[in-house]
Amino acid sequence: MNCHPATDRLLQGNDKHPHRPVATRDTLCVTCHTDRNFTLHEEASYRSIPGHPRWMAAPIEMAWEGKSVGEICRQIKDPDRNGGRSLSLLHEHLAHDDLVAWGWQPGAGRDPAPGSQALLGELVQAWIDTGALCP
Ligand code: HEC
Repeated sequence: MNCHPATDRLLQGNDKHPHRPVATRDTLCVTCHTDRNFTLHEEASYRSIPGHPRWMAAPIEMAWEGKSVGEICRQIKDPDRNGGRSLSLLHEHLAHDDLVAWGWQPGAGRDPAPGSQALLGELVQAWIDTGALCP
């Protein structure tokens, strides 16, 4: 959810609080985020700074923040709002993109997403195979 914000304001943490230090979509992420999770070795209010070679927020047309499961479901199937992906490319992004993989290896002091990326891939494939319907 924090990777798919609906406004220019970035979010953090399980409670989706505003990003601290203050940064917006237009701020250069690489000013602070490097190509990997960086563990701090000194006292701070957080234990690591997340990182990845392509660290960025999803484009605004792919926002999930504030949307229902049904709305997100219809959006991720819509090539106008999913980066022009077919269902098989959508599966590729969710099941194999190493930026998505960050969610399960978020670094010190952050809770990983539930399950695993492999399990997500299986679930998305089963959803596609049964018609990719939305609630
Ligand atoms: C001025 C430095 C700085 C800039 C610029 C910056 N960040 Fe951050 N970001 C941080 C720090 C430090 C943290 C960890 C803070 C914490 O956990 O309290 C963080 C954490 C995050 C998280 C939190 C992940 C979670 O645990 O929920 C996200 C998402 C994020 N940044 C996205 C971005 C994006 C996208 C950009 C560029 C558009 C960006 N940041 C630019 C310093 C920055």
